[in-house]
Amino acid sequence: MFLKILSILVALSGLFMYYNNYTFNFFPSTKVTQKSTTEKLYTENELSKYNGVDSDFLYLSLLGRIFDVTKGSKHYGPGSNYNIFIGRDASKSFITGEFSDTSKTLDDVLELAPNDLIGLENWIKMYDEQYIYKGKLIGRFYDADGMETDYMMRVKEKLEDAQREKLLKEKLNTQYPPCNAEWDANTGSRVWCTKRSGGVDRDWEGVPRMIHEPGASEPHCVCVREDLINSAKLKEYEGCDPIAPSCVVKRD
Ligand code: HEM
Repeated sequence: MFLKILSILVALSGLFMYYNNYTFNFFPSTKVTQKSTTEKLYTENELSKYNGVDSDFLYLSLLGRIFDVTKGSKHYGPGSNYNIFIGRDASKSFITGEFSDTSKTLDDVLELAPNDLIGLENWIKMYDEQYIYKGKLIGRFYDADGMETDYMMRVKEKLEDAQREKLLKEKLNTQYPPCNAEWDANTGSRVWCTKRSGGVDRDWEGVPRMIHEPGASEPHCVCVREDLINSAKLKEYEGCDPIAPSCVVKRD
């Protein structure tokens, strides 16, 4: 009995490790330095054959990770909307939406904004969940041993920066959700807070304050919980009751 339980536990932990490796951990933060022995590596020429014409299969590559998308042939087959992705790595087009561009540098994702790399990571999640992972493409992201290239390391660094920034923004958004705002030609503008303003559901309403975040060209209105209104980075709206949830902003 004990052995049976032990073998089940071992099998489950193996399954967890497999899943963790291939489904969640798309970009482990350290460089992969060991030659991959189990994964198949494809050259660009090999990949180009999986185009639904030279072969019955449809493969695409995203950041050098190859997926069999044959079951989605209505999207990807010859003549279909997303055929540009087939038989190649056109990662950049997943963000630009430029599907008629056939240039050879559609995998040059470092040209994209940091935040766009998060978009690419989301596409990879979709392919991992919906389609079959086949292996890696030798080229910009992986070398002939299946190891990450320096280019890939730069992509990962940029992605990690974007993720950090996104987390910071989310944190700030929860602490200081944006106000509602409206403008009227006669009365000027009004800013106000509710328990849902800024799309952040909460159990407090808050009062409007101006905040000037680093990097932003001008201050904007956020809702602040009354016990936090004394922070030096927040500025009151002139002529408004400092603890009123709504404020008609004085016109100059
Ligand atoms: C950056 C722009 C875009 C990209 C990269 C993109 C990419 C894709 C991809 C890869 C699929 C297939 C998903 C799968 O395998 O399940 C898809 C499906 C789809 N896309 Fe887009 N798309 C873009 C813009 C748009 C726009 C602007 C529309 C609508 C006006 C649209 C409408 C659709 C629809 C309706 C489907 C599903 C089609 C079906 O189920 O038959 N896409 N898109």
